[in-house]
Amino acid sequence: MPIKSRICELFGIEHPIFLAGMGGAANPKLAAAVSNAGGLGVLGAAACTPSQMRRWIRETRELTDKPFAVDTLLPMSVRGGGNLKLEDGENPADLVPGYQAMAKEFMNEHGLKMIEHDRRPTEIESVGLFTKEFFEEQMEVVIEEKVPVYAAGLGNPAAWADRLRANGTKIMAVVGAVRHTVKVSSAGVDAIVAQGHDAGGHNSPVGTMALIPQVVDAAKGTPVLGAGGIVDGRGIAAALMLGAEGAWIGSAFLASEEANIHAHQKQAIVDATEEGTVISRSITGKPARIIRSAWTDFWEHSEHDPLPMPFQSAVAGSVLVSADADQRQDINPGFAGQGIGMIKSVRPAAEIMAELVEGMEKTLTDSKKWFS
Ligand SMILES: Cc1cc2nc3c(=O)[nH]c(=O)nc-3n(C[C@H](O)[C@H](O)[C@H](O)COP(=O)(O)O)c2cc1C
Repeated sequence: MPIKSRICELFGIEHPIFLAGMGGAANPKLAAAVSNAGGLGVLGAAACTPSQMRRWIRETRELTDKPFAVDTLLPMSVRGGGNLKLEDGENPADLVPGYQAMAKEFMNEHGLKMIEHDRRPTEIESVGLFTKEFFEEQMEVVIEEKVPVYAAGLGNPAAWADRLRANGTKIMAVVGAVRHTVKVSSAGVDAIVAQGHDAGGHNSPVGTMALIPQVVDAAKGTPVLGAGGIVDGRGIAAALMLGAEGAWIGSAFLASEEANIHAHQKQAIVDATEEGTVISRSITGKPARIIRSAWTDFWEHSEHDPLPMPFQSAVAGSVLVSADADQRQDINPGFAGQGIGMIKSVRPAAEIMAELVEGMEKTLTDSKKWFS
């Protein structure tokens, strides 16, 4: 029997299953495949330049006539740094060259050759990647393109809410704590994603199972999606039992044919066990769940802390680019959540969706057994 929730009606979808916004990985092909299969496809547009985002939105519209979302990060989210202790007046930007020299040594030790970066498009040069101005320019595209749904992956979309709503755009926000839930609820978002510590990427210090019901209570009636470590129908059913009305799923869809990550990264997901991930600031400067690698180990054992966002990306960039060119799963296996031990192969997204739906329905139907 099909499972419906308020989420289905609100977003005009068949199943309460969302592709998580995964920067770069959740591209138009993957988002459209999930939307076409009855879920909600979400573009991971956090690192897209404004014109690339516009292209992605238009491409998605060509691939599906169903609703989809755009996920970005918001300015306040880049204000917090890490644990780095700076001398009075010292700017993390000044430390970048020294850190890049450390990265170069790491590359030499691991047999990686420096690859000339593609020159960044001038529109990024003009505003800087992951700056307040960069995110603001992205939001102008989200508004101009009148996307069906906007999701704030980090931060509060309140400042844009009126303009989004005027376009009929539904608004979502991803949270990792009750205090964030209270903030985004008062901004009047349509749905909230409770993303726990199990999740791939930047996540919460609170585990998914403990976080979902506490966010549901704090959301005071705003529908909640559970996220983090959900890779099969049992996980979705559990999230529903905890009071969520749907699931926001990342890693399970990374292991899809459509996902825009490297083949060696898909293989790393298939190869990993439940113990295969760590929380590390080594890539973006913010704590993120990543598949353990020589690069995460390097920072774990280093006497230096990674630089805060956005500076650490300038340190990690060359390492990751050359690791990808050499298909080095041991250096850049990528972000992923703790559920990856359950992922055994790379499949088309439609097949993954069908299995999630069937598994969710079966688990909920089978739960009657507890009353017999
Ligand atoms: C490769 C990857 C990239 C991610 N990038 C983003 C992002 O750009 N914006 C965002 O809101 N969340 C991002 N996340 C977090 C996801 O939206 C989602 O919360 C998470 O994948 C859920 O946990 P799961 O991977 O265990 O399903 C990312 C996660 C992964 C695995």
